[in-house]
Amino acid sequence: MPCLSIDGRKVDFQVGQTILEAATAAGIYIPHLCWHPKLPPYGSCKLCTVQVNGRLGSACTFPAAEGQEVISNSEEIRQMRLRLTQMLFVEGNHFCPSCEQSGQCELQALGYYLGMTTAHFPHFFPERALDASHPEVLLDHDRCIFCALCVRASQAEGKNVFALAGRGIHTHLVVDSPSGKLGDSALSGSDWAARVCPVGALVLKAQAFRTPIGQRRYDRASIAEVSLAHEAPLVRKKHES
Ligand code: SF4
Ligand code: FES
Repeated sequence: MPCLSIDGRKVDFQVGQTILEAATAAGIYIPHLCWHPKLPPYGSCKLCTVQVNGRLGSACTFPAAEGQEVISNSEEIRQMRLRLTQMLFVEGNHFCPSCEQSGQCELQALGYYLGMTTAHFPHFFPERALDASHPEVLLDHDRCIFCALCVRASQAEGKNVFALAGRGIHTHLVVDSPSGKLGDSALSGSDWAARVCPVGALVLKAQAFRTPIGQRRYDRASIAEVSLAHEAPLVRKKHES
């Protein structure tokens, strides 16, 4: 098998894999927010940035190649990922102590993983709406990080309920329905698109605060452990078939 190195460790990979897939299959965690092993890569969050033969690139879109020397675990890259995470926090309204996804949220867990203790940047406190029109699913635009996971999951399900519109600070999630509200869209609470959100922007109703503090997903394990446990088998299976 072809081979590359990640932080000095030899990693075998299959032709066609990205660096992130090769790392994940080998049990090496590279932080990421907009990637899911069952969806096409999107490359927006930049949390997965690594150095490849000395130049920066997104591991989720960068094809693995023989002899590559990849650096992911350096202090410089940790600092860059920390700043990106802090930017995500200040661009939206993420009030973790009162959020029902606290302890189950990938953004919050990544903040802990990267040693985040302050927001570093001034908060934008944007004014964003809450869409509670759907009987089963709540859409809280305050918490959206524009990862497009719901967009791609809904596309994969053949419904295309979601899309991202606007650019830069004006980016926002839109819903395909006559009113633009979730309540008259084709979304069902059992859809993957309704359950794939890594933060608390799309959540199922009547499920909040059910898991006691101490037993929530990221109380029990770090985001690195949780990600590898879920994603490594999916990547291996994808490239077996
Ligand atoms: Fe990502 Fe969730 Fe926003 Fe969809 S609603 S773009 S899954 S953060
Ligand atoms: Fe690679 Fe988001 S996971 S850019």
